[in-house]
Amino acid sequence: MMERNLDFDMVVNRRNTKCLKYDFVKKRSMPEDVLPMWVADMDFKTSSYVEDALAEWAGRGIFGYSEVQTPYFKTVRKWMKEHHGWEPQEKWLIKTPGVVFALAMAVRAYTEPGDAVLIQQPVYYPFSEVIRDNGRRIISSNLYLEKDRYYIDFEDFEKKIKEEKIRLFLLCSPHNPVGRVWTPEELIRIGEVCVRHGVTVVSDEIHHDFIFQGEHHVFASLKKEFEEISVICTSPSKTFNLAGMMLSNIFIPNQTLRNKFRKELDAAGISQLGIMGLVACEAAYSRGGEWYQAMMSYVKENIAYTRQYVKEHLPGVALVEQEATYLAWLDFRGLGLETEELDRRIIYGAKLWLDSGKIFGECGRGFQRINVACPRSVLAEALRRLKKLCINR
Ligand SMILES: Cc1ncc(COP(=O)(O)O)c(C=O)c1O
Repeated sequence: MMERNLDFDMVVNRRNTKCLKYDFVKKRSMPEDVLPMWVADMDFKTSSYVEDALAEWAGRGIFGYSEVQTPYFKTVRKWMKEHHGWEPQEKWLIKTPGVVFALAMAVRAYTEPGDAVLIQQPVYYPFSEVIRDNGRRIISSNLYLEKDRYYIDFEDFEKKIKEEKIRLFLLCSPHNPVGRVWTPEELIRIGEVCVRHGVTVVSDEIHHDFIFQGEHHVFASLKKEFEEISVICTSPSKTFNLAGMMLSNIFIPNQTLRNKFRKELDAAGISQLGIMGLVACEAAYSRGGEWYQAMMSYVKENIAYTRQYVKEHLPGVALVEQEATYLAWLDFRGLGLETEELDRRIIYGAKLWLDSGKIFGECGRGFQRINVACPRSVLAEALRRLKKLCINR
């Protein structure tokens, strides 16, 4: 059998498919003809091997309580070893219905109500939500932008940990939305601070397979001491466009941290997960390699296309260097518009549904996040709409 889903130019109709991105335009008060480029899933069909594995399973007609054993783990480990040079142990693995769910469980497991939890804004907004919604306090050591790349302010990072008595840090690696692949030096520097101050590090590495420059390093792999303080969050959901399958693989090497995390899952009433997510994960990691490579080449070209287009046709807009993820972070501050006015013009003028930078933290004001994992014709249309906005301002 051959991989069938390699035509990434093909526009797949996602309307009326129970699709969050396309079918909730009206419900979320967007204009009807808006082009949605916000939520982080891809407009591509997944690997045909995943499709076939799911169809075969559905054909069995039995959907009772399900669980996987060592062969599942071995498949996941093989992917991690081949793509990230890391070999986790089977006992470290805890499966959850999503990475955001795991972040919420970690907040509950490792902190008390009222405690401060550290993040690095601008960052994927559910980081703030799981902290706030669990009655903890958000403390951000903001990343700073120099030229077209974001950096960590290490002094501020340690100062905040000391001042706020931080016990938990949510790391986004690689970083959504600023597109950084953290270098081993950067990760070691923050990791050492965390070890020194007894901080647990939840490293959300869900975008680890979308690396376009540099190399991804699993936080726990960098030092033995880091293994002891880490919760490593992974999932096939971004890589293979399986977000609706609600499955993530969380690795917690330290037994005490693992037990605390498991206790929170028990308290939340979670035990087994849905069978289809497990089947999809195994199929993707074991047979989706060709699709993954082809998809990466396509997305890489989309990023290059975006970069070129922004440079040539969007005066006042700059693309932050995108080393990772399929989410481009566009700096609109050169247009000199107030954030609310910029948001308004993007939605009602350009008719684009992006993620406004302000939802990633106050320091995201003036930026917009655009998802470029779509057929090039769709991306080209979105960029054309932005061009009109820049020219007609
Ligand atoms: C950094 C990051 N973490 C987690 C998620 C979502 O993960 P899940 O759907 O598994 O909760 C996303 C999706 O955009 C993300 O960008």
